Amino acid sequence: MPTLTFENNDRMPALGLGTWKSGPGEVYKAVREAIRIGYRHFDCAARYENEDEIGSALADAMAEGEVKREDLWITSKLWNNAHHRDHVVPALRESLEKLQLDYLDLYLIHWPVALKPEVIFPSKADEFLSLEEVPLLETWQGMEDCLIQDLARHIGVSNFSVKKLRGLLRESRFKPEMNQVESHPYLQQDELLSFCHQNDIHFTAYSPLGSMDRPSRLKKDEEPILLENKVIVNIAESHGCTPAQVLIGWALQRGTSVIPKSTNPKRLRENFAAASIKLTDADMEAIAGLNHHYRFIHGEFWTPEGSPYTIATLWDE
Ligand code: A2P
Repeated sequence: MPTLTFENNDRMPALGLGTWKSGPGEVYKAVREAIRIGYRHFDCAARYENEDEIGSALADAMAEGEVKREDLWITSKLWNNAHHRDHVVPALRESLEKLQLDYLDLYLIHWPVALKPEVIFPSKADEFLSLEEVPLLETWQGMEDCLIQDLARHIGVSNFSVKKLRGLLRESRFKPEMNQVESHPYLQQDELLSFCHQNDIHFTAYSPLGSMDRPSRLKKDEEPILLENKVIVNIAESHGCTPAQVLIGWALQRGTSVIPKSTNPKRLRENFAAASIKLTDADMEAIAGLNHHYRFIHGEFWTPEGSPYTIATLWDE
């Protein structure tokens, strides 16, 4: 299994299990099965509302001697309604309690978007706080508190642009060590990836398979289906593997971490086996040609009329 090495020599398994959209009643079984298959990296978030079930699965697997805490890499994320500095450590403690852990390996700011503390998901413009009211640097100082208090070994961000990363790099005491963003052949994010690598920030690709099970999915005939793309399907056939394995193998081969989600035992196994796929230079070149900056996750839920956020200021593009 390829790993990403952090400055203190901690190593994160590059392939992790995504748990966004893994529902109650299925995520416990998925995590137990994943551990048996060999997954050691689990990507979680308070907002996925399933950390308690994941925590039970991790605790049971450890109690039964299947895995040790030090062999696991657990990531979680700060939700948008806890961006005030004083709210960050308590939010992390809540995730830790649900996950039944003493520390996280990695804690991320989920979005560069702030909500009022009482709002879980916004339905109107007055439920937001602007970045003038709660600057990202203030939230970041809360993340640094997590590090100082040994509640998280590493801290980072998610859905951050080059511009927002630059701001943090300039002003922070401890720099972000990870940026987790949407990335797949339709949204390769070359510029962001090379900026991250130049600045020793690791990169995790979310929605690597196109997140067909996401709630905000457009009608089927309106959006491209990544897993059915002809170039991907042909490469899969030439290697005797599946399209999902090509997508995962591609992400790993670019030096990124990747977190495909599945709750299906057969697909969990299939996705894990993608770590041994070796794509040729010609395959990589053909996949490079598929990039057309297409987002599956547009972020339109942060930009209702009157919101302090717009699509342009969200992605800085
Ligand atoms: P399931 O959980 O039933 O396996 P993403 O990681 O991009 O968010 O995509 C997750 C979606 O892709 C889920 O609908 C998941 O369904 C599906 N999926 C996961 N692994 C595979 C695979 N190997 N082949 C096809 N679909 C997959």
